[in-house]
Amino acid sequence: MDAGRAGNEAYEQAWLDYRRIEDEALRESYAAVCGRLLIAGEGAELAAARSELRRAIAGLLGSEPVDVSAAPADAGGGGGPGGPAIVVGLADRVRESWHEWAAEAAGVEAGLDAGAGAGAGAGAGAGAAEMPGFETLGDEGYAIRTGADGSVYLLGGGAKGALYAAFGFIRLLQTGAEIRGLRIVERPAYPLRMIDHWDNADGSVERGYAGGSLFFDGGRLGERAERITDYARLTASVGINAVAINNVNVHAEETRLLAPERLSDVARVADVFREYGIALYLSVNFAAPIELGGLGTADPLDPAVAAWWRETTAEVCRVIPGFGGFVVKADSEHRPGPFTYGRDHADGANMLADALAPHDGTVIWRCFVYDCKQDWRDRRTDRARAAYDHFMPLDGAFRDNVVLQIKHGPMDFQVREPVSPLLLGLRRTQIALELQITQEYTGQQRHLCYLLPMWKEVLDFEAGDGRTVADAAGGRKGGASADEQGAAENEGGGWRGGLAAVSNVGTDANWTGHLLAQANWYGYGRLAWDPSASAEAIGREWIRMALTSDASVEETVIRMLMDSHAIYESYTAPLGVGWMVNPNHHYGPNVDGYEYSPWGTYHYADRDGIGVDRTVATGTGYAGQYPPAAAAMYELPHACPEELLLFFHHVPYDTPLKSGKTVIQHIYDTRFEGAERAAGLLAAWDHIANRLPARAYVEVRERLAHQAEHAREWRDQLNTYFYRKSGMADAHGRTIY
Ligand code: GCU
Repeated sequence: MDAGRAGNEAYEQAWLDYRRIEDEALRESYAAVCGRLLIAGEGAELAAARSELRRAIAGLLGSEPVDVSAAPADAGGGGGPGGPAIVVGLADRVRESWHEWAAEAAGVEAGLDAGAGAGAGAGAGAGAAEMPGFETLGDEGYAIRTGADGSVYLLGGGAKGALYAAFGFIRLLQTGAEIRGLRIVERPAYPLRMIDHWDNADGSVERGYAGGSLFFDGGRLGERAERITDYARLTASVGINAVAINNVNVHAEETRLLAPERLSDVARVADVFREYGIALYLSVNFAAPIELGGLGTADPLDPAVAAWWRETTAEVCRVIPGFGGFVVKADSEHRPGPFTYGRDHADGANMLADALAPHDGTVIWRCFVYDCKQDWRDRRTDRARAAYDHFMPLDGAFRDNVVLQIKHGPMDFQVREPVSPLLLGLRRTQIALELQITQEYTGQQRHLCYLLPMWKEVLDFEAGDGRTVADAAGGRKGGASADEQGAAENEGGGWRGGLAAVSNVGTDANWTGHLLAQANWYGYGRLAWDPSASAEAIGREWIRMALTSDASVEETVIRMLMDSHAIYESYTAPLGVGWMVNPNHHYGPNVDGYEYSPWGTYHYADRDGIGVDRTVATGTGYAGQYPPAAAAMYELPHACPEELLLFFHHVPYDTPLKSGKTVIQHIYDTRFEGAERAAGLLAAWDHIANRLPARAYVEVRERLAHQAEHAREWRDQLNTYFYRKSGMADAHGRTIY
């Protein structure tokens, strides 16, 4: 039993649960450094850093630090008679105005000034020569450094950086790290690290599995002040700096968020966000000039429409200082857009970008554009092609403050898809990779599915030239050829892209419904900060901070997390074919749920074989959207990565795989194994029952038990379906119905 957990049984503080550190020696070694707190400067983010450090130190170590900020001179610098201190401030200010005591008392000057130009995330233990000059920290980067007297300096390039430094230091304390001799430099990999909420004005959450909306409550907005503050703390603690509060499907009520009478409510939420360095974004309705403005058109090239957006945007930005910008789902799944007026997506996005430009706002324009009224009989139309077909011809046509937000796969957040070719295709356009933290197609937070291993595969994907998706999202040129000027220019300042992901939180006490799904929220932020971090290291951090400091429990839980995506994949849709879920709510097995629908999501199983021919030679040509090396790989069944075989090819059931098994036997075997391994997750959890906090054990057990049972349902429905289609028996004679 984790005794210190008692006060926070419901997990409402998630990973910022500052329960007392049980290891006395460790606690005392931290206390020796954390007795005094000195905040060098003013402003919202520094105030947030102060209150967070006080709260964390009080909780973790048992007593609040003495605040010595008021009289730095008397406080004897960082150290001096009062002993070491935690010193928080802006790096250059500390250097200028606090120069003398900082240098003398803490001896940090030499180290802080030495060297220049280290990359992001040099990490603990980096030598002095690797320390960047302050100018390279940027507004959001930070350095953490131990001075000669043991004082710890938390120095931000800007105020946000100082706040991130505070959270970074707290994380060290929570994960039991050594805090002597710290030499850490961190810079986020992307300027945009965003969370998109699909929250509706009525308080519901589209694809939400953790209760209602945090922001909207029966038509009111921003009522849950304390919870919203906690949300901002948690979100900022992992480095998220942008949050869209409303659903990309903007209905009548949410269209009105731009209206003067609703803006003050939005501003209340934005005020809380701002303290934590988070810019608020709104999803907007492209037809708002008609629905809200009373105009006869929303044509982006109509001067009256542009003027309406300019004025409306100016008012939004007046009421909400630091407003982030607009998220737009246009011409997608029945949402209005520029196509209505014979215009293209660049026309639409640029018009909004011009309205936002004077306020330094950004348009996040989504590329989830496809025909959702397809005839299932039509085998030439391929939804997978759609984003690339629509947006590649527009590469380079967007304003500097437009970011195209692109889902990681060409379909829709399936458990297995290839990486969207658009992510690597665009070279003259800023992009954000869109991930889905909420587990729409990955078990809806009733099944355990730790998503970081999958996200890492996406970020690390490259198509033969060494330029990864992680590079592309950061505007880094990588192995691109010399004439690709657009990307090269983006290497300097000005890049606005990065990562965006659909939120998985709601009003449930533990935030995410499935307690272990918190790790996806936490992990998304950590990965958006540093895409080179490992899924396992991030998972372990979350476990230590949010769940337990018991090392043996950590071993079990990290294995559960790390295996969970593969387990989920192995009992759901096989070999990359996707879907096979119940229509609308998308939960549970239904092999033909979408087979005769207009949504473009088919598997084409017949008595002989299964899969979608997306080759150039005989299929839809989708494989040809990749750069040559990847295109060649996907084109041929024997070269195609097996886990994507049915995504790219229609093959007979007796096609042999590398394992020597046939496709049909692989389907049977993986479904049987998958269901067994799902049961194994429950057994593993039960095994550590008496070392887990009671409530966590019970809550998670209930979900794992459901998962084990539901995995059997998946197994039996899929195996039975394919047995009946193919007439081919299981080689091991197991029960198929
Ligand atoms: C999926 C999801 C929808 C969502 C859409 C989107 O199709 O099921 O609920 O609106 O993605 O990303 O826009």
